[in-house]
Amino acid sequence: MINTAGVPRTTRPDGTMPTREELLGTNLKITDFVSEGIAKFAPNAIIISIANPLDAIVYRLQMNLNRDRSTIMGMAGVLDSARYKLFIAQEANVSVENIEAMVLGGHGDDMLPIRSACRIAGMPVEQFVSPEKLDAIEARTRKAGGEVVKLLGSGSAFVSPAWSALQMAEAIVYDKRKIMPVSALLNGEYGVNGLFIGVPAILGKNGVEQIIEMDLTDKEKEMFKNSVASVQKTANEVVALTNK
Ligand code: LAC
Repeated sequence: MINTAGVPRTTRPDGTMPTREELLGTNLKITDFVSEGIAKFAPNAIIISIANPLDAIVYRLQMNLNRDRSTIMGMAGVLDSARYKLFIAQEANVSVENIEAMVLGGHGDDMLPIRSACRIAGMPVEQFVSPEKLDAIEARTRKAGGEVVKLLGSGSAFVSPAWSALQMAEAIVYDKRKIMPVSALLNGEYGVNGLFIGVPAILGKNGVEQIIEMDLTDKEKEMFKNSVASVQKTANEVVALTNK
C-alpha cells in the first residue's frame, strides 16, 4: 500500500501560514488514523509512504505498527534522483536514459546527491560536467521540491512522486530485485540505528530485501552525517508530539 495521506502547507484565508510544528501535529494525527486502518485492513501489506514530511511520517508509521523493517519504507530518493538525473542530462546535453545517479540521506535540504556514483553511460559524470556546474546542480536538486511548489503556486509536486512510488511498487510486485534509493529503517548500517534514511536497497517481493552499504568519499560521509542529524531532529519532534 502507498500512503499519501497528509495536508500540504498552504496559506490560510487570513494570509497566515501554519507553523511547521502545527503542520506536523496535523499530519501525525492523520498518520495515526492511517496506521489504525493499515493494522485493521492491510496488516500484511508492504508499505511505501510518500506523505510529507517524509522522514517524520514513515517514522511515526513504524512507531505505531512496529513492522518487520523489510515491509515498511519511504519514497524520496527515487524522486530526488530523478531530478538530479534530469539536471545532469540537460547540462551534459545527452539523454536522461544515459544517467545513473542516486540521492541519499533524508528528504530535506541536506539530502545528498552522490557525485562519486554518478555515471553517464558508465563514465564518470565529471568527464561531461564541470565541478562548478555539478555544485550548482546538486544545490538545485536539494531544493527542487520547493522549486515545484513555487511554480505551482499552491500544493507540491504530485505527478513525479506518484511515478517514483510506482517504480518502487513495480520492483516489489514483479520481484525485480532492483537497487533503488529507499528510505529504509537502519539497524547499524552506515552507523545509524533506528532511523529511516535514504540508502541504496534491493527491492523485491519481500520489500526491502537488502540494504547496500556504499563507499562514500570523506566529504559525502560528512554530508551524510549532517543529513542523519536532521532526520534525528525530526524523529525527536515526532516523539515529543506523541507525548503532548
Ligand atoms: C517534493 C515533495 C513532494 O520533493 O516532497 O516534491
